[in-house]
Amino acid sequence: MCGIFAYLNFLHPQSRKKILQILVDGLRRLEYRGYDSAGIAVDGALDGERANRHIHLLKQRGKVQALNDLIDSCTDLDFSEELSAHVGIAHTRWATHGEPSPVNSHPHRSDDGNEFVVIHNGIITNFKVLKQFLQNKGYAFESETDTEVIPKLLKYIYDTTADEKLEFWQLVERAALQLEGAFALAVKSRRFPNDLVCTRRGSPLLVGIRSMDEVSSADRVPVLYSCDQQLGNERVQLGKVPGITTYAPDNERTPIEYFFASDPSAVIEHTNRVIYLEDDDIAAVRKGCLSIHRHKRIEEDENMVRSVHTLKMELQQIMKGNFEAFMQKEIFEQPESVVNTMRGRINFEEGTVTLGGLVSHLSEIRRSRRLIFIACGTSYHSAMATRQLLEELTELPVMLELASDFLDRSTPIFRDDVCFFVSQSGETADTLLALRYCKGRGALCVGITNTVGSSISRMTNCGVHINAGPEIGVASTKAYTSQFISLVLFALMMSEDRVSLQPRRRAIIEGLRVLPDLIKEVLKLDTSIKQLSAELLEEKSLLLMGRGFNFATCLEGALKVKEVAYMHSEGIMAGELKHGPLALVDSNMPVLMICVRDGTYTKCQNALQQVMARAGRPIVICQQDDEEITKLSVGRQLRVPPCVDCLTGILTVIPLQLLSFHLARARGYDVDCPRNLAKSVTVE
Ligand code: UD1
Ligand code: M6R
Repeated sequence: MCGIFAYLNFLHPQSRKKILQILVDGLRRLEYRGYDSAGIAVDGALDGERANRHIHLLKQRGKVQALNDLIDSCTDLDFSEELSAHVGIAHTRWATHGEPSPVNSHPHRSDDGNEFVVIHNGIITNFKVLKQFLQNKGYAFESETDTEVIPKLLKYIYDTTADEKLEFWQLVERAALQLEGAFALAVKSRRFPNDLVCTRRGSPLLVGIRSMDEVSSADRVPVLYSCDQQLGNERVQLGKVPGITTYAPDNERTPIEYFFASDPSAVIEHTNRVIYLEDDDIAAVRKGCLSIHRHKRIEEDENMVRSVHTLKMELQQIMKGNFEAFMQKEIFEQPESVVNTMRGRINFEEGTVTLGGLVSHLSEIRRSRRLIFIACGTSYHSAMATRQLLEELTELPVMLELASDFLDRSTPIFRDDVCFFVSQSGETADTLLALRYCKGRGALCVGITNTVGSSISRMTNCGVHINAGPEIGVASTKAYTSQFISLVLFALMMSEDRVSLQPRRRAIIEGLRVLPDLIKEVLKLDTSIKQLSAELLEEKSLLLMGRGFNFATCLEGALKVKEVAYMHSEGIMAGELKHGPLALVDSNMPVLMICVRDGTYTKCQNALQQVMARAGRPIVICQQDDEEITKLSVGRQLRVPPCVDCLTGILTVIPLQLLSFHLARARGYDVDCPRNLAKSVTVE
């Protein structure tokens, strides 16, 4: 949760207005991570003389726009002053400790003089002990947050180690050693003007680099880079001191800019060159040079480097375009995003599937005791949606686990288990903790992630990038369908050698080939679904019923309706109706049923009859050429094209994504930023 963005310009003059604009724009890109308050710190004062000596804080409750308005109305800053070197830090918050308010917003400060200011993502679990310690030393706290202990601790260390003349990064390192929990943080200080220090443990943080030389001519890449042919990535050359990697422009007078952010989407408009920081890295920029420091651990290689990655993401991918919301854009992107998931992985002619990241682990997976899928929310539903097929094609026991519950139970895990961690963001705290747990017990850990460079992608032994492209809307839509397809591809790959399964495999591969066109057809239901949402607008509740391949669709649809339309909704296993939920059904209860021609078709028809017998008038999602349902059903129908049974879940979930979107819009809600939620749940 929370978004961190920092901008440092060195020998690259920018007006204060431009700097503020870069910071606010960075926050806007990160707003999906948390949006109950936002804040910013820049060098301030109207009097240019004092510009480097005073840090100006602006913090506001509400969305980034509210902070922007506050900046616009600020009369204490000289907007036009040109600053040839400067550090600005900015933060958008998702409250954990203390309600959203200006005083609880970041940046937090060490004292009234703003000597050290900090932005932080994550939770400091031992903050109470630290707070007590610092209060005993006379520090007065102004907020209810855990974060505030960090700047105060920095000042305490600075004041008590004056004779050691510690560098800025050393101060942060000493403070970080005292912190427990998960964090990514950026520190600015008037004691170290124009310098910046960042560190992380458990929360993502990356550094974007833009050098003028590099921009003007690609072949004049600074000499400190050397090329690693194998990875196709450049690496930062080693510094002279063991355990320290440094990056500097080839001559120290070269203009350079750095962008520190929780997520690449905030830096892509400025640069595609990024370094992902690892846990416990301390990244410091001093006089325009970036160095990465870490405490050397015994098991670590002395020749450690941090690669400079080239982001493949395009700015246009994270822009809304003509759509009303990112969620809508992402729903409509699904004909292309599913192609991107399959691209280069299926040979339709030969009927073969190759997931590059799993090839070398396949025999180990085939020999395993069981497959365990661990995830949260929508990602969990994608595993549920494909479980039946995974069991059918892998012929292994398949277990599904909600990450939080898995951890609560301290579930037994063995060395011959294969554990899959499904996560769009690759940063979800519960899923990450479960990954650490399983890794510690020797299981093979496989990631199914959308975010290259994310913690889950890096910490797993192997995995699959689902390649759905950046998903900005908090409600997960295209990532669900791409996770679904990735898991289908995995099942197909596992069964390649099974002669008896070939006809089934061919039918599924053919289904995948036509899937993008079928999705386009489903999207044509948009207008009638919008109409339906107008009819359901005032309802208090919506029950979604289905079974077999489509039970997961019901759970996922209900989650979407709750999440963005704030309407109670429940996904009900149709086979369970008479064991309780049928009591809810009467002529007033809105019910939606999924009834497609698969192995559960007759049973679903029975459930439909049972609901209608209690005066229910269910809306039915059924297949286009299904005359039986036309005769049977009394309510409205949403018709999707027929396809192979195990892929219908993709076609039936899209109408529910659209329904939740239109319901939310009709109710006047901000679908991309639903209340109380955030895109990336990096707290337990
Ligand atoms: C890779 C390239 C892709 C290129 C293709 C060509 C990357 C990220 N992908 O795709 O750009 O077009 O080769 O052959 O460079 N991994 C994990 N955990 C995860 C996800 C992935 O460890 O959660 C690992 C995989 O095991 C693999 C690597 O990351 O070693 C890349 O995975 P993936 O992008 O899925 O591989 P390819 O499809 O082969
Ligand atoms: O990034 P992840 O896939 O790990 O996120 C897991 C859940 O937080 C997420 O799927 C959540 O349920 C969605 N916002 C629902 O739309």
